[in-house]
Amino acid sequence: MSFSITTTTAPTPAARRAEILADPGFGRFFTDHMATAEWTVDEGWQELRVRPLEPFSMHPGVGVLHYGQEIFEGLKTYRHADDSLQLFRPDMNAARFARSARRLALPEFPPELFLEAMDELVRIEADWVPPHGDEASLYLRPIEFASEAFLGVRSSRTATFCTVASPAGAYFTGGVRGIRLWVTTKYTRAAVGGTGDAKCGGNYAGSLLAQTEAQEQGCDQVLYTSGPPERRILEEAGTMNIVLITRSGKLVTPGLGTILPGVTRDSLLTLAPEHGLVPVEREIPLPELVDGCRSGEIVEVFAAGTAAVITPIIALAGDGFEVTVGAGEPGPAGLALREHLLGIQHGDLPDPRGWMRRVC
Ligand code: COI
Repeated sequence: MSFSITTTTAPTPAARRAEILADPGFGRFFTDHMATAEWTVDEGWQELRVRPLEPFSMHPGVGVLHYGQEIFEGLKTYRHADDSLQLFRPDMNAARFARSARRLALPEFPPELFLEAMDELVRIEADWVPPHGDEASLYLRPIEFASEAFLGVRSSRTATFCTVASPAGAYFTGGVRGIRLWVTTKYTRAAVGGTGDAKCGGNYAGSLLAQTEAQEQGCDQVLYTSGPPERRILEEAGTMNIVLITRSGKLVTPGLGTILPGVTRDSLLTLAPEHGLVPVEREIPLPELVDGCRSGEIVEVFAAGTAAVITPIIALAGDGFEVTVGAGEPGPAGLALREHLLGIQHGDLPDPRGWMRRVC
């Protein structure tokens, strides 16, 4: 099985593409093609295609529209100095996509087909990958959803896989200067046994009201906690994992379970020792974060994600508290890890673990 390729007859004019790549923002523009595949319970995966981007036509009764049976991924393509196009740890996304599918009772999209879909889409959209030396990249967004028209509550007997591509600059404008997080104790994101560790649209739909609350409080994004009010445990932020640096040289991040197992999070835990930091995954009670920022025991906080890369957190606020992190500016450990990660991704620093996958 492999993908058939149909090239668009109406590509975006080169001048318009250049204009978009000069200031892509995040998620505002789409390239000219998409990769798609269809699944049925009887036939399995078929109709593997890379074809011109076009709207889906769907029956109003399809499962995804009623019960949100949907998953997604996010990964980036980088142009290296030798003009090759490379993906960062796409095997991690392929594996997580399969795990998310399992949790949402969708059919697993085989990891080898996932990688092939990414490769073929990147090849056909090569001109959309921003130049080397630019911090921008081409973001790939695979999705899978229930496509059977049926109103009973059971898993769909048909599913659609699709990947679109979108040139991506910074997720937060001015993000490297640092952002503020609002710690919500009103809304929770996930519970033990729920879908918190799956990358499904519903987790993000449920987060939008909390994100609005954060913005009303003058913050850039929400930080979730779980557990009883008197002993809140940190979870993750709206679109990224959270990482603390302690005065004693530890890189501490919440353990897996109800949070998204982020690719950037995993990469930072792996790189930490090279920066003289001891990686620690454990429960972090909210009072430890607040008191630690006040006492200076916590010297840096940052967020990590594919879209957000590493975004410094310079202040946190919540019900009845407001704290500045460190000196209220991005800290050296976060910035050094950011440079390291971006250096590997853009091909400017050694990649001893073979994290990059050369597409072409
Ligand atoms: C990513 O970082 O790739 C994500 O999927 C976060 C997002 C929902 C923008």
